[in-house]
Amino acid sequence: MSTLRRSVALHSLSALAIAIAGAASAADPEVDAAMLGLAARSGCTACHSVEPKQDADGRTPVGPPWRDVAARYYGVKDAQKQLVQTVLKGSSPYDSHWKGRAAGLAMPPNAVAISERDANRLVGWILSMDVR
Ligand code: HEC
Repeated sequence: MSTLRRSVALHSLSALAIAIAGAASAADPEVDAAMLGLAARSGCTACHSVEPKQDADGRTPVGPPWRDVAARYYGVKDAQKQLVQTVLKGSSPYDSHWKGRAAGLAMPPNAVAISERDANRLVGWILSMDVR
């Protein structure tokens, strides 16, 4: 390999390493697994998926996919606080934040199923999802 080609190869290798390191900090597989477990135990995954999806009959989950939630609230001040309250107390059926983009139903209060601390952890994880 010529010196030039080797240095180009090395360069793209380090760019790859940086890209992987960046992805790891945004989406740590261990954190993802722990948070998905918490979401399942708390009943969230009955209505939410992380990525948009459809089952074989073309049905989509009742709630908005969490990747879309992350994109919608990216950079929004107080999103963490607001969303934790919505998760605990439920959403307003008269003021859907996902009109036309999810089932159009309201989210019931989840405070019976999840502590405020865990709701904070889940919302923090949702808002940290990579949306670029
Ligand atoms: C029974 C179904 C159901 C369950 C269970 C449920 N959700 Fe939801 N969720 C919804 C629906 C429907 C919406 C859309 C509400 C709207 O249109 O404003 C929603 C919206 C959200 C939003 C966005 C709120 C907003 O104002 O934009 C977040 C964040 C969220 N859910 C997180 C959770 C978490 C965390 C849990 C588990 C503790 C959970 N959800 C459990 C149905 C559900």
